[in-house]
Amino acid sequence: MAIALAFVVVLGGWVNVSAVWPDPPPVAWWLHTTYEKSVARQAAAIGEPVDLDDPAGVLAGARAFDEMCSVCHTPPGLSPTVQSQGLNPPPPEVSQLLARRTPAQAFWVIRSGVRMTGMPAFGPSHRDAHLWQLVAFLQQAAGLDAAGYADLMERARQLPASDGHHHRHGGASGEAMRNPGEYHAKEDRGGPAKPADQTVPAHGHPHATGNHPED
Ligand code: HEC
Repeated sequence: MAIALAFVVVLGGWVNVSAVWPDPPPVAWWLHTTYEKSVARQAAAIGEPVDLDDPAGVLAGARAFDEMCSVCHTPPGLSPTVQSQGLNPPPPEVSQLLARRTPAQAFWVIRSGVRMTGMPAFGPSHRDAHLWQLVAFLQQAAGLDAAGYADLMERARQLPASDGHHHRHGGASGEAMRNPGEYHAKEDRGGPAKPADQTVPAHGHPHATGNHPED
């Protein structure tokens, strides 16, 4: 009986796969608990490197985070992007990324991704040492305010590209994926488009600001 019902629900198109449709509480519990238990089990055997506090690693991690992660995980003092606002479950802000995770669990999530959430796996494209640098950065970033975050990023951008590793979307100049037009402070939200902002299309819809007041 239960199996027949499952077929009817699926084949009849009754599962709403929209990202904006909230999961009913039992489904949300089911998905969330599956996630929590899976991460705990999968990460149990992962040992942490001893040098997670190494300042050079933290800076390298900061730069990689800026390029690959900040589009979804909003840093302190910056507004959410159009991408991060549309994800379900919502990507936690930077300060929250380690709030409920051990470093080993965070490493596992970053390496493996989380299916059906928008969290990509970075293991296929990155060596473990680079992923640990991201964890090292997250540890430092947890307590930073907007000024502290901006200062850390400023220092990270001055790093020489020593390992020949750069992210294609960042370009040879090391320009961030969140381009400067998107790097506006919170108080800029909803303001008129700045000249540097090339992302405003013909219908005058300020995409880069991330909030859409009158839609
Ligand atoms: C396309 C959007 C997206 C990008 C890019 C992204 N993430 Fe995520 N991330 C998510 C979402 C969504 C979740 C929430 C998953 C969940 O709650 O089940 C998440 C979860 C996480 C978590 C686990 C948080 C927790 O409490 O369980 C960590 C750690 C994390 N991301 C780190 C990173 C790092 C580091 C990067 C860059 C290398 C990154 N993410 C890039 C969307 C993204």
